Amino acid sequence: MNIKKIAVLGSGTMGSGIAQVAAQSGYEVLLIDVDQKFIDRALAGISKGFQKAVDKGKMTAEDKEQVFGRIKGSISYEDCKDVDLVIEAILENMDLKKQVYKQLDEKCPDHAILASNTSSLSITEMAAATKRSDKVVGMHFFNPAQVMKLVEVIPGLDTSEETIAAITEVAKKMNKVPVNAKESPGFIVNRILVPMINEAVIALGEGIGTIEEIDTAMKLGAGMPMGPLALADMVGIDIVLAVAEVFYKEFADSKYRPALLLKQMVRAGHLGVKTGRGFYSYQK
Ligand code: 3HC
Repeated sequence: MNIKKIAVLGSGTMGSGIAQVAAQSGYEVLLIDVDQKFIDRALAGISKGFQKAVDKGKMTAEDKEQVFGRIKGSISYEDCKDVDLVIEAILENMDLKKQVYKQLDEKCPDHAILASNTSSLSITEMAAATKRSDKVVGMHFFNPAQVMKLVEVIPGLDTSEETIAAITEVAKKMNKVPVNAKESPGFIVNRILVPMINEAVIALGEGIGTIEEIDTAMKLGAGMPMGPLALADMVGIDIVLAVAEVFYKEFADSKYRPALLLKQMVRAGHLGVKTGRGFYSYQK
């Protein structure tokens, strides 16, 4: 299958990162969100990212214009009528996702693949909202999408081999390393990473170490590029909690119980880098 045009749904941290990577890999990109102000903010961020690459001598100003010119914004699914692939990176809410997949199914051409960047939700359940369950698949990127090399490729119950092959090819063209994972909450990385972050928050709550001590210990003692609490801030504490809650519900096992402090942080609106405060402060 020849994929040329990709719609990225959701212009948050992951959506804009994926849009940037797709444009850099030669794809035409349509970045869709519900409000023009979100699109404008995302495009400004992407442009800034390209400018940094120009300033570092990793990209010419002409290349920047060309690559950035491949990304168009939209607030309407009507514009999906000529896309070959949709990468959905909206809120982690199954009811919302099902509504969106139903609409995408109506607006996208018959051949289009619908891929979800979900962190932990069921691909099969999203696929069931469409009449093309063979063309619905998980395509899970990691934050920051511009840097992290992995893409998990997750089939739902009805996903065809052709769809898996097409997504694997797109991931490779994006210079990523695709790894297949079976459909199970959190797939591979989050299944292992999120309980570890949750444990770090429990350790913090128990006073085993300070924020800095826990992060320094895990960086220097376990070779992590950043400590688990800084990582939670970067990924979004709300995202970490959402994944932890899916595990707790789906596995019905108390070992996945989300840390109380994680819930308190979300209730307080301290979601990490994106709100200026998480375990650390990011006020300018
Ligand atoms: N956006 C774009 N580019 C970024 C970036 C960002 N947010 N953060 C860093 N970069 C780029 C820098 O510009 C730099 O590029 P260059 O090599 O072209 O100059 C390069 O990455 C390295 O950055 P730095 O030198 O500033 O910093 P580090 O070497 O410390 O790397 C890091 C930063 C890549 C974020 C590293 O700390 C890291 O790998 N952290 C762990 C990230 C991780 O575990 N992500 C997975 C989270 S789980 C997830 O996303 C799943 C979800 O479902 C929850």
